[in-house]
Amino acid sequence: MARKILVTGGAGYIGTHTCIELIAAGFEVIIVDNLINASRVAVERVEEIVGQKITFLEIDLLDKEAIDKVFAEHEFFAVIHFAGLKAVGESTQKPWLYYHNNITGTLNLLDSMKQHKCFNLVFSSSATVYGDPKYLPLDEKHPVGACTNPYGKTKYFIEEMCRDMAKADSQWNIVLLRYFNPIGAHASGRIGEDPQGIPNNLLPFVAQVAAGRRPHVNVFGDDYDTPDGTGVRDYIHVVDLALGHVASLRKLEKPCGCVVYNLGTGKGVSVLEMIKAFGKAAGRDIPYQIAPRRPGDIASCYADASAAKKDLDWVATRTVEQACEDSWRWQSNNPNGFNA
Ligand code: NAD
Ligand code: UD1
Repeated sequence: MARKILVTGGAGYIGTHTCIELIAAGFEVIIVDNLINASRVAVERVEEIVGQKITFLEIDLLDKEAIDKVFAEHEFFAVIHFAGLKAVGESTQKPWLYYHNNITGTLNLLDSMKQHKCFNLVFSSSATVYGDPKYLPLDEKHPVGACTNPYGKTKYFIEEMCRDMAKADSQWNIVLLRYFNPIGAHASGRIGEDPQGIPNNLLPFVAQVAAGRRPHVNVFGDDYDTPDGTGVRDYIHVVDLALGHVASLRKLEKPCGCVVYNLGTGKGVSVLEMIKAFGKAAGRDIPYQIAPRRPGDIASCYADASAAKKDLDWVATRTVEQACEDSWRWQSNNPNGFNA
C-alpha cells in the first residue's frame, strides 16, 4: 500500500507542485488547506495532471478538533507542512495574525502528530532566517534569527520549536528546508503562482508586466554592491524544490533527529538578468524603471546547497531560463490565474 503523506497548505503554490512529484514517486497524498491563499481549482488541476482523485480537506490548522480527526482517520508516514501566511509587508502590519496563524497552527499540528504517533515532519522554512548575510554563499551553519519582519520570525521560531522537540524526544525526525527564491511553474502550464493583488515578489510582477497587466517593473535599487548594482538572489525552479521534498522523505526513513538543508541552486542572478531572461522567454521587451531601494532588502543572497546534495542526493537541475519559460506558459494560458 502507498505511504500516506499529509500535505498542509497543499493547495498553494509550492504545495500543488510537490503533490504532483509525491504522487509520481508513489506516495498517497492527503491535502489540508483552508484556501485562505489558494483555490480549489488548483487542486482540480493537480488531479488532471496526475490523472487521479486526491483527498482534499478544507480545514484550518487553527481548528484543532478537525486536525485531530484527520489523524484519527488516516495513518501517515509523514507530514509536509507548507500551510502558513507568507506576505512580508502584511506581517509587519498584522503581526498578531502571522504569529497566531503560523505558530498556533503549527503547534496544533505538532500536538496532533504527537498524539497520533506520527513523528516524521518536513517543514517549509526560508533563507530569510539568515537575515543579512555575513558571508556568501550561505551554508546551514550561518547564524540565524536576525529576521527583520514577523513573517521571517515565525519561520525562525518554528525552526527553534522543532529543534527543541527533537532534542527532548528522539522519536521526532524533522527536516527543516530553507528555501531560496522559488520561481517557475509546472511544465504543463496548468498550475503556477497566483498572487492576489499586486505581487510582492519579482517574478510574478515581471510576468504581469510581460502580459500587459502592468506598465513596467520597478527595479528596487541599482546601487547595491553587486555586479550590475541590482539585487542578487538564488532563484530555484519550483519543480526542483518539490523534488527536494520527495528526497527529504527518504531521509525520514531512518532516525535523523532535526536536520536542516538549504534548497537553492548556488547561483546568484540579478534583477536585471531576471528581467532579460523573462523577456526572452516571453518574446518581448519588458519595460522597467529604476526605483528607490525597498526597505529591508539585502544586496545578495545565494545558497551553498552542498549539504542537500551530500545527504539527500538532491540538486537543482532546472535553469532560470526554463523557469521563465514555464512561468510564461502559465501566465499567458491563465491571465487571471485560477479565476477563469
Ligand atoms: P501559498 O500561500 O501558495 O501556500 C500556503 C498555503 O497554506 C495556502 O494554500 C493557504 O491557503 C494555506 N494556509 C495558510 N494558513 C493556513 C491555515 N491556518 N490552515 C490551513 N491552510 C492554511 O505559499 P507557497 O509559496 O506555496 O509557500 C508554502 C510555504 O513555503 C509557506 O509556509 C511559505 O512561508 C514557505 N516559503 C515560501 C517561499 C516563497 O517564496 N514562495 C519562500 C520560502 C518559504
Ligand atoms: C522576499 C522576502 C523574503 C521572503 C521571499 C519569499 C522581502 C523584503 N523579503 O525575498 O522574506 O522569504 O520574498 O520568496 O520582502 N524586486 C524588484 N522589483 C519588484 C520586486 C522585487 O526590483 O517589483 C527585487 C528585490 O529588490 C530583490 C529581488 O527583486 O532584489 C527579489 O525580490 P523578491 O522576489 O521580493 O524576493 P526577496 O526579496 O529575496
